[in-house]
Amino acid sequence: MKILVTGGAGFIGSNVTKKLLERGDIVVCVDEFNDYYSPKIKELNVAQFENDPNFTLHRGSITDFDFLKTVFEKEGIQRVVHAAARAGVRPSIENPFIYEDTNVKGTLNLLHLSKEFGIENFVLFSSSSVYGNSSKVPFSESDPVDNPISPYAATKKATELLGYTYHHLYKLNVNVVRPFTVYGPGGRPDMFPFLCTKLIDEGAEVKRFGDGSTQRDYTFIDDLVDGVVAALDNILGYEIFNLGNSSTVELNYFIATVEKILGKKACVKEFPMQPGDVRITNADLTKSRKLLGYDPKVKIEEGMERFIAWYQENKQLY
Ligand SMILES: NC(=O)c1ccc[n+]([C@@H]2O[C@H](COP(=O)([O-])OP(=O)(O)OC[C@H]3O[C@@H](n4cnc5c(N)ncnc54)[C@H](O)[C@@H]3O)[C@@H](O)[C@H]2O)c1
Repeated sequence: MKILVTGGAGFIGSNVTKKLLERGDIVVCVDEFNDYYSPKIKELNVAQFENDPNFTLHRGSITDFDFLKTVFEKEGIQRVVHAAARAGVRPSIENPFIYEDTNVKGTLNLLHLSKEFGIENFVLFSSSSVYGNSSKVPFSESDPVDNPISPYAATKKATELLGYTYHHLYKLNVNVVRPFTVYGPGGRPDMFPFLCTKLIDEGAEVKRFGDGSTQRDYTFIDDLVDGVVAALDNILGYEIFNLGNSSTVELNYFIATVEKILGKKACVKEFPMQPGDVRITNADLTKSRKLLGYDPKVKIEEGMERFIAWYQENKQLY
C-alpha cells in the first residue's frame, strides 16, 4: 500500500513510518519540521529512512492546500495516517491561533483532498484530551466529550467532527484514534516522561503540579503503533478508538519509578495544578480490543526501563 503519513518526522509519525516500511508498505511523509521542539530531532527521525526506496519526504505545511494537492497528484496515495499537529496542552493556551490553523484547517485540507482523490481509509489523530475533566472513568468512546478544557483539546474535538462530516457526506472511511500519553524511546522532549527523566538525571528541580495524586494512562509507543496500524488496516466507516494502556499510574509512583531506574533521588517542588491539566486519564479499551484486536502489553516499569536506556545513549542530543 502507498500511505501518506503526516507528521512523519515527529515522535509517533516516525514510529508508524518505521513499522509500515518494515512490513513492505510505501510511505510518503509530509512534515514542516517546525521548532516546537528541536527540528534536529525530527531530522534524525527521518534520517533512518533516507536510503529506503519506499520512503519519500515532502517538506511543507498541511495548512498549505496547494502544496498538499501537489503531493496527492504526484504520489497516488491510497491511505492516510494523519498525525501532524500542534500537540501540547499548555502552549495551546498561550497561542491558540496556531493550534486552530494547523489542527483544524490542516485536517480539513487533508480530509477534503482525501475525498477528492478517493482515499480508501483515513486515520485521524485526536487525543485523550477530548475527555477533559470527565469524572466518569474509564473513558469510553461513547462518553460525551463536549467540555474540552484547553484549545488543544477543542481543536482535536473539532477534527473528529470534521471527520464525521466527510464520512457522512462523501462516505470517506475515517478511523479516529485517541492516544493516551504516549512515551518511549525517541519520546517528545516537552512531555513529562522525558522531562522528569532529564531533570532527575541532572539533579535539577522537578516541578510537580498538584500533590502527586493525579493519574495518567501511559501508553508505550510500540503498543500505540500497533493500534494505529490496525486502525489503518481496518475499513469500518467512521469509528473512534481509545488507544491507551488501561491502567493508570499516579504521578508520585511515576517519579519513584524513574528514581529507581536512574538510581537517583528526585528534587521535587510542589506547584498548584496548571490550567488545562486534567486529574485523571484512563482508557476503556473494550471497543479497540474488539474491533482492532488492540492489545497493549508494556507496563510502565518496563516501558520506562526501555525509555531510560534510550535516554542514556541519546541525552547529549537534547
Ligand atoms: N504524544 C502523545 O502522547 C499524544 C497523545 C495524544 C494525541 N497525540 C497526537 O498524536 C499526533 C502525533 O504526536 P507526537 O507526539 O508524535 O507529536 P510530534 O510533535 O512529535 O509530531 C508532530 C509532527 O507534526 C509536524 N507538524 C506540525 N505542524 C505541522 C504542519 N502545519 N504541517 C506539517 N507538519 C506539521 C511536526 O513538525 C512534528 O514532526 C498528534 O496529532 C498529537 O496531537 C499525541
